[in-house]
Amino acid sequence: MAQNKAWTLASFPTGWVTEENFKLVDSPAPAPKEGEVLVKNLWLSLDPYMRGRMSQQKSYVKGVEIGEVMTGETAGEVVESKHPMFKPGDKVTTPSGWQLYGSVNGELLTKVDASRAPLSYFLGCLGMPGRTAYFGLKEIGAPKAGETVLVSAASGAVGSVVGQLAKAWGCRAVGIAGGREKCDYVVKQLGFDACVDYKAGNLYRDLKEACSKGADVYFENVGGEILDTALRLMNLRSRIIVCGLISEYNATEPYGVKMFRSILVNRIKVQGMIVFDWLDRYPEANQALLDLVAAGKLKYRESVVEGIENAPGGLIDLLKGRNFGKQLVKLA
Ligand SMILES: NC(=O)c1ccc[n+]([C@@H]2O[C@H](COP(=O)([O-])OP(=O)(O)OC[C@H]3O[C@@H](n4cnc5c(N)ncnc54)[C@H](OP(=O)(O)O)[C@@H]3O)[C@@H](O)[C@H]2O)c1
Repeated sequence: MAQNKAWTLASFPTGWVTEENFKLVDSPAPAPKEGEVLVKNLWLSLDPYMRGRMSQQKSYVKGVEIGEVMTGETAGEVVESKHPMFKPGDKVTTPSGWQLYGSVNGELLTKVDASRAPLSYFLGCLGMPGRTAYFGLKEIGAPKAGETVLVSAASGAVGSVVGQLAKAWGCRAVGIAGGREKCDYVVKQLGFDACVDYKAGNLYRDLKEACSKGADVYFENVGGEILDTALRLMNLRSRIIVCGLISEYNATEPYGVKMFRSILVNRIKVQGMIVFDWLDRYPEANQALLDLVAAGKLKYRESVVEGIENAPGGLIDLLKGRNFGKQLVKLA
């Protein structure tokens, strides 16, 4: 029988996550019950939302309890199936969490066509982050051709797709990212019109120059001072998609937004989003994103740590911005 390894939550972090917040547990691989499918996980996705699940604060989804397997999405291969829709060898994405094997209710699995794109892409630009970019930009941002779309964390899993979709839809795309290397990648490889390094120390001046006609859409991934600065550049009747606030996830006190007045003066529409608000429309996004990837029009980059043992370090790196592209753990 195959051996499983699973990371469980050992304690709730206060402030930054540390390796001590996790415990690695060995056990035999779980046997599938009727309706379940045993999957060998090949890739584990690490995502900023995991910080919120390591907390007892009220959120849009229940958090992980102490001793439970860390929540997370994986991509892998079916080993044994007790569900009529799956057979051994099928490639799937699963909600089985931080472990090598998962026995999952077949209704919660998604079969993917790994002949059209690498399997790991279905956790990134063709998975949850890609769909987040697609629905947030299309439905809340509603950009018109010629408008300026500004996006933070622009080199990352969500932000990189936002800017490329904006370009594909005829807009001017401006990114914000940390460091020259990430900004160069966003412009030269992803094709954004400009990218501002928020660590360079002149954020307002540099953003004003990059968005010479102001911003019509701001796709917010980080919050804090970057949000306050973006608020100073928003145009009349512009839209802000509040997708994520990663700069606050490890803070003990929330950041107090100072430029709130801009929302009133400019009649800005500000709307929060959670990707599963569009659950019934996932096939539409999946198809649109797959077509762009297959046509070479959606570029994508991954940041990979090797081996399940290194999953906690991978999450810590992601939360500190040390990833460069979609953060993954290669499990096999
Ligand atoms: N609402 C939803 O349904 C939904 C779904 C998916 C993701 N999200 C949110 O979208 C955001 C991006 O997620 P992702 O998976 O695409 O992650 P990602 O961009 O691949 O990685 C996170 C990036 O955030 C940036 N960052 C970290 N700390 C920061 C700070 N203090 N100030 C400014 N930037 C910081 C870093 O980039 P730099 O080096 O450029 O700073 C880091 O690389 C997150 O806030 C996440 O929670 C929301």
